[in-house]
Amino acid sequence: MGRHIHFEQTVSSTQKIAQSLANDGCPDGMIVVADEQTDGRGRMARAWYSPSGTGIWMSMIIRPNIPVNQTPQLTLLTAVAIVQAIEELTPLRPTIKWPNDIMLNGKKIVGILTELQAEADKVHSVIIGTGINVNQTIEHFPEELRNIATSIKIETGTNLERAQLIQMILLKFEGLYSLYLTKGFKPIKLLWEGYAISLNKMIVARTLRGSIEGKAIGINDDGVLLIETADRSIERIYSADIEIK
Ligand code: BTN
Repeated sequence: MGRHIHFEQTVSSTQKIAQSLANDGCPDGMIVVADEQTDGRGRMARAWYSPSGTGIWMSMIIRPNIPVNQTPQLTLLTAVAIVQAIEELTPLRPTIKWPNDIMLNGKKIVGILTELQAEADKVHSVIIGTGINVNQTIEHFPEELRNIATSIKIETGTNLERAQLIQMILLKFEGLYSLYLTKGFKPIKLLWEGYAISLNKMIVARTLRGSIEGKAIGINDDGVLLIETADRSIERIYSADIEIK
């Protein structure tokens, strides 16, 4: 991972650049990093605040030989890699809120957006975008984010060199990804469960098709969240915002 790095000072979105590099047949494992994004994108068509000089705005392009329905596994794998990297370089102990929010003290520090290029059921490339709040102080965040977002600097009181964190994330990702390619999702799922805060709790999952309330009983082998509802049926959640009750 990261043997081919494409760096730009300012881009609209590293996801967009990564998509066009992937279309042009770039090498597997290529990374796009920008100092600033003017049109950073989050999940569910939200904007992602990506100012210059503070965070890591990065997209990774990988080409695993897996069917489309297994790609959520890679999002969970990436979340584990980032948590492990933060743990390695700081005293912080982040947790993961399904599917891919990395949290510290109830606030979000990392978001992951996985996008696909596929033909029929076959993955052509997976583009994993990660937004990591590293050196922002609270004043850096717009008012509406101050109660829900945090950064490594806010939590530790010290700056962390972004290049050092990128390097550590790529190292962790590489190890987990080769474990995944040889042993499958099971060992990754176990690691992910060790960091997950939403499991065995009553939650509300807000999906594009409405809200589902119940107990989060686990994830299945594709990385899909399973909720047991009041009538004891099991709902499979592919994409949602989760609120822990
Ligand atoms: C989320 O909604 O939590 C996902 C946020 C993902 C943000 C990252 S920043 C790098 C990459 N480029 C984007 O435009 N989005 C992702």
